Amino acid sequence: MGFPPEYFDSGLAYQAQAGDTFIVTYPKCGTTWTQHILWMLHHDGEPLPLGKNINLEVPHLEEVGSEFVAALPEPRLIKTHLSYELTPYHPQAKYIYVARNPFDCAVSFYYHTKGFIKHYDFAKGTFDEFFECFIAGEVDWGDYFDHLVPWIEHKHELNVLCLTYEAMKSDPKAAIIAIATFLGAAYIKKVENRRILESILDHTSFTRMSKDQSRWSSERPNHLPPFIRKGEVGDWKSHFSASQTQKLTQKFRQRTAGTEAATIFQNASSPVI
Ligand code: A3P
Repeated sequence: MGFPPEYFDSGLAYQAQAGDTFIVTYPKCGTTWTQHILWMLHHDGEPLPLGKNINLEVPHLEEVGSEFVAALPEPRLIKTHLSYELTPYHPQAKYIYVARNPFDCAVSFYYHTKGFIKHYDFAKGTFDEFFECFIAGEVDWGDYFDHLVPWIEHKHELNVLCLTYEAMKSDPKAAIIAIATFLGAAYIKKVENRRILESILDHTSFTRMSKDQSRWSSERPNHLPPFIRKGEVGDWKSHFSASQTQKLTQKFRQRTAGTEAATIFQNASSPVI
C-alpha cells in the first residue's frame, strides 16, 4: 500500500477518544463519499473547497499515524480501513461502517490498483489477474470477508452505524439523515435546516464530487479512469466472467453463512443495514 510502516504501526496504537468519529471501510466501498458527507455536516453544509484535501481533514489513520490524528481539532473525524479487531476502540467514540457488495468493490479496487502507479506495480495488470488476488484475499487490507463479517456482527451496538453503498446510492438523503441522527442532536438540527441538507446532498453527489478531484486524491495517469470513477451499482457485470461470478458468489455464501452479513445487500431500500 506504500504507507510508511512506522505510521501504520503508530496508527494501530492510537488511543481512541470519546467524541472521535471513525469512518470504517474495506477499500473502495464509499469511504471518500462518506468522508465528504461528514466533513460537510461539520461545516454547516459548506463543501470542501478546491485547494484542500479530504485526507488532511479526515485523515487515514494508518497513513498518517497517531500523532497527526491526536493533533486534529475536536471532534476528530478519522478514516480507517482496519478490521474490527484492530480498530482503536473507545465506548464513547462512534464508528460508521460502510459496506459495498464485493463484486463492485473488486472492480473499483482493480482500477484503484492500476491507477496508483506510485504505490503498485500493476499499471499493465488485467482484471483477471486482479480477481485472483482479490478472491485469495491477497490485496491491501486483506480478505474482504475478514473485514465485512466481524464489523457487521457489531452493527447493533449503539456506537456503530452500518450503511451500504447501494442503499446510499438509492436514497442519499436518507443516508445523510441517518448519519446526522447517529451523530446526535446538534447534527439533527443541521439537517433540519433545508439549506444545509440540500447543499450536502448536492455537493456529495457523484456528479459534483467528480469535479475538482484533487480534493480527494493525488494525480493519476490521464489514460486511466479518475479516482471518482463511475459510482454505479452493478458495474461488475461488464467485468466479471461467468466463472468469476460463480467463484465470488460461492465465497460470499460460504463466508457469510449464518452471519448478519448474509443478507445485507439484498434490500437496499433502507440506508441502514
Ligand atoms: P467506482 O470505482 O466503482 O466508481 P473509496 O472512496 O472507498 O475509495 O471508494 C471509491 C468508490 O466510490 C469509487 O467507485 C467512486 O467512484 C465511488 N464514489 C466516490 N464518491 C461517490 C459519490 N459521491 N457517489 C457515488 N459513488 C462515489
